[in-house]
Parts: sequence; structure tokens; C-alpha cells
Amino acid sequence: MVEHGNVIAGRTVLLQGTGGVSIFGLQLAHAMGVQVIITSSSDEKLARAKKLGANYGINYKSTPDWEKAATDFTDGRGVDQVIEVGGAGTLTRSFGAIRVGGKISLIGGLSGPATELNPGLILARRANVQGISVGSTQMFEAMNLAIAANGIKPVIDKVFGFDQVQAAYRHMASGAHFGKIVIRVAV
Ligand SMILES: NC(=O)c1ccc[n+]([C@@H]2O[C@H](COP(=O)([O-])OP(=O)(O)OC[C@H]3O[C@@H](n4cnc5c(N)ncnc54)[C@H](OP(=O)(O)O)[C@@H]3O)[C@@H](O)[C@H]2O)c1
Repeated sequence: MVEHGNVIAGRTVLLQGTGGVSIFGLQLAHAMGVQVIITSSSDEKLARAKKLGANYGINYKSTPDWEKAATDFTDGRGVDQVIEVGGAGTLTRSFGAIRVGGKISLIGGLSGPATELNPGLILARRANVQGISVGSTQMFEAMNLAIAANGIKPVIDKVFGFDQVQAAYRHMASGAHFGKIVIRVAV
């Protein structure tokens, strides 16, 4: 959101789902005064996201064309940035959610790695799509400063011991979690 999106207070970001990446994204966006639209398969999780500062929640099961609901929320303009974690199953709709000149930060592929994409979508939206992996040490330090200054505490769903690794992965695969799952490495 900072390095690729260049979003500032008042801009709008769309986050997909309520897993570790998206909930941390929500906390950071909220601290920056950025408007957040978040999607989830669960109304209960959307309610929790709103308590953390999300401005608008869309259930992607009951509203499969969530990109239209996101566009309506922005009065037809479209969002400034999508933090794309869905991948194949969500990317085409993300082009429908962004404003002209909007950005898609491609981080994950929860719904599978491959899809057919119409290149016309990139052209029509004058979209900027950037793959995101790790950042630099400088970016990490800047993020940590923002976390400390805003007193952000990560939302941790459950902590597992190192001897419970399989249970931790099963919990993640179930999709029941909200925020991060921790495997404690140190004793
Ligand atoms: N590029 C990088 O540096 C980097 C770093 C970390 C993670 N990742 C990748 O980013 C993705 C997310 O990681 P994570 O740790 O946040 O995962 P996670 O905690 O397992 O998040 C899963 C959540 O995403 C939502 N979701 C699942 N399938 C979806 C779909 N088809 N459409 C929309 N939402 C969907 C669900 O939320 P609801 O239950 O609310 O529906 C689910 O609970 C993964 O693919 C991961 O590999 C990349």
C-alpha cells in the first residue's frame, strides 16, 4: 500500500478475505486513514473486520460479483488499489473493481495458480499490476516504525507449539481463522 499503492488518507483499498495478509493490511490501512473495503465468505468475520476499522464489507459467497458492490461503494469511481491474494479466481474481478489507472498488487494465489486473462482489461483500466514478494530492509524498518507509532498489535487467531505443526496447517486449510496463525519456534 505504501510502496506500490502510494495510497494516502481518503484513498480506497480493497482487501480479499480475512486471513493473515488481509487483516494486517486492514490494520495498516486504518492507521493511515485509508478507506477499506474487505471481502469474506463469512458475515461474522466481516463484522469483526468492521470493528477493526473496515469501512465496507462484502460477502463474496452471497455477492459473487463483489467488484460491482465495491464500485458502487466508491460512487462508481472504483478503488485505488486491490491487494490481490485470491489469484486465478479473483483477478479478473479485481480489474472490475479498480478505478482507471488503479493498481493491483499481486501477492497470493489462494484460488489456484493459473487463469486465462483478457489483456484488454489491463488496457481498458490503464491498470498497473505489480507482483509483490518480500521488500527491502529499509521498507521493513519503515513498516515497523509505523506499527510501533500506531500501537498496532497483530490479530493472532491461534498459537501452536512446534510439535503441533500439522494441526496448525490443518487449521489454516480449514479457513476458520481470522488473522494470523502462529507456530511458536522458540521454547
Ligand atoms: N507474496 C508474498 O510475499 C506473500 C506473503 C504472504 C502470503 N502470501 C500469499 O498470500 C495469500 C494469502 O496468505 P494468508 O497468509 O493471508 O492466507 P490465509 O491466512 O490462509 O488466508 C485465507 C483467507 O483468504 C480468504 N480466501 C480464501 N480463498 C479465497 C478466494 N478464492 N477469494 C477470496 N478470498 C479467499 C478466506 O477468507 P474468509 O474466511 O474471510 O473468506 C480465507 O480464510 C496466500 O496465497 C499466500 O501464499 C504471499
